[in-house]
Amino acid sequence: MNYFKKIMRFAIPYKRFAILNIICNILYALFSTLSFLALIPVIQILFDKTRQVAVEPQWAGLGSMKDYMIDYFNFEVTRRVNEDEVAALLFVCGIVVVLFFLKNLFGYLAAFFITFLRNGVLRDVRNAIYDKILMLPISYFSEKRKGDTISRITADVNEVQTSFLSILELVVREPLMIIFTIIAMLLISPTLTLFVFVFLPISGFIISTIGKKLKSKSSEAQAENGYFLSLVEETLSSLKIVKGFNAEDKFRNKFHDSTSRLKRILDSLVNRQNLASPTSEFLGIFVIVIILWFGGNMVLIEGTLEGATFIAFMGLAYNILTPAKQISKATYSVKKGDAAAERIFQVLEAESTITDSKNAVEKTDFEEVVEIENISFRYEEENVLKNFSIKVPKGSTVALVGQSGSGKSTIANLITRFYDVNEGAIKIDGVDIRNMTKKSLRNLMGLVTQDSILFNDTIRNNVGLGKDNSTDEEIVEALKIANAWEFVKDLPLGLNTNIGDSGNKLSGGQKQRLSIARAVLKNPPIMILDEATSALDTESERLVQKALENMMKNRTSIVIAHRLSTIQNAEQIVVMQKGQIVEQGKHSELLAKKSVYQKLVEMQSFD
Ligand SMILES: Nc1ncnc2c1ncn2[C@@H]1O[C@H](COP(=O)(O)OP(=O)(O)OP(=O)(O)O)[C@@H](O)[C@H]1O
Ligand SMILES: [Mg+2]
Repeated sequence: MNYFKKIMRFAIPYKRFAILNIICNILYALFSTLSFLALIPVIQILFDKTRQVAVEPQWAGLGSMKDYMIDYFNFEVTRRVNEDEVAALLFVCGIVVVLFFLKNLFGYLAAFFITFLRNGVLRDVRNAIYDKILMLPISYFSEKRKGDTISRITADVNEVQTSFLSILELVVREPLMIIFTIIAMLLISPTLTLFVFVFLPISGFIISTIGKKLKSKSSEAQAENGYFLSLVEETLSSLKIVKGFNAEDKFRNKFHDSTSRLKRILDSLVNRQNLASPTSEFLGIFVIVIILWFGGNMVLIEGTLEGATFIAFMGLAYNILTPAKQISKATYSVKKGDAAAERIFQVLEAESTITDSKNAVEKTDFEEVVEIENISFRYEEENVLKNFSIKVPKGSTVALVGQSGSGKSTIANLITRFYDVNEGAIKIDGVDIRNMTKKSLRNLMGLVTQDSILFNDTIRNNVGLGKDNSTDEEIVEALKIANAWEFVKDLPLGLNTNIGDSGNKLSGGQKQRLSIARAVLKNPPIMILDEATSALDTESERLVQKALENMMKNRTSIVIAHRLSTIQNAEQIVVMQKGQIVEQGKHSELLAKKSVYQKLVEMQSFD
């Protein structure tokens, strides 16, 4: 229940709905009990003339309220019976109808109000998870399965929402029903009611034993749910490879294994849950039978109980079964909700390692230099970068080259502060980037990642991502600089063309040029460009090349280059090997050294 309690915090803004729900539930429980009690005089008076009350009863204080009310009701009924039996019957029927109507009206209103709370909590928890996803550092997700996170924000939140209804039934409605019913039963016959009391704790024990394993089973089910969603997600995004490598069977088996595991868990979970109703009903029938036996004896043999009262009592005893059943069902539901809430809080309470420091400054412009000072960095155990230092003065271009895995993209990850360095510091105009707000830091930078990351949206929205309210002219201008306008202008829908999932309707070079246009439109003082490794044909390479040149013009750029053409004009070329700098200088100087760089150039490959 611990996690579920934490979720309750999300309900606080909606507490007025909870209060309205509780009020309606109290009235519901009250009218529900009264509607049974109203049947007693009907049976008594219509079928047993001895109980008629001819004289209007007098109010004699609270102590005899019960007698007064019964007598008064009987008096009213009697009066009408004596005048006109059919009219009396109609009167009583009317009362029963009104009571049942009120009962159901308040039942509906209770559900009506709580709907706002449940759906409000659903929305707020989802928003909180999504905001947290946006806030958590990239490293948090590198080992997580996407599907698992998706399942937390969908299935788990749903589970919590459903169990919210249960919790209110559990703590308000059904206990009240039971209390009111028991009071009514006590008024009718204390002895018989005693039998019911004996039964309640016994059945409570039996029900909680059945519910015990429910929480762990439920978390297992949710985890498996996350796994199979991940498989769907992965399969959808790699269909080409799955089909191209004839790996359908492998994926099918993986998926079927997962769904079979899920089926096994759900079979046992649902069947355990299914035990709730029959168990409580069966236990309840025991009580009914006991009442039938003892009550029947009281009516038939001892004569201490009236037939009509006995029938109403039986009705009440049966009436207590429904809430008892609901409570046992609700306990199970809340256990499942708790498991789901635990998974939600694993995300919500995950610690964000990359946050703005307390005195973080807002850095709005770039004046002089980007310095990487003696940094070391590791993702896991092994150092990926060791004692690495470079300086990038304003207006210049620094190119990073080196074998694949030498740590080039890692530098882009560190400058943008997707990760923090382990040692050393990265400074912009002398200010450590850890002392700037993340927002202002990233405002200074344009980022073109190694693999073009595009969204299933129009070209306009993809390019306009980094600049609010950009006009079509600005977008076209950026597309022109990125050399992308030449293909966008020929599209029938132009800027409104949807580019498909991850931009799949475009060619590799077109995708690259769109992501360059996106960075150009943002027009940041510092460009970080991680050039795509994928080989392009000469024509698109020339187009992309031109786009890069246009982009770097008059800007400060850090370019991770895989192509000689990109870097020849750089002021500084940094040659990396296993996270360290092995050579540094201009193209011609490095060639003259006839060392690592020269070899790379000879192979025309910097990977
Ligand atoms: N998220 C990560 N978690 C753990 N290790 C990582 C992660 N990303 C990269 N690495 C490791 O860090 C090293 C450097 O990777 P990086 O991506 O910086 O190489 P690169 O120089 O950009 O290579 P390429 O030219 O192929 O793009 C590699 O050995 C890689 O295995
Ligand atoms: Mg890389």
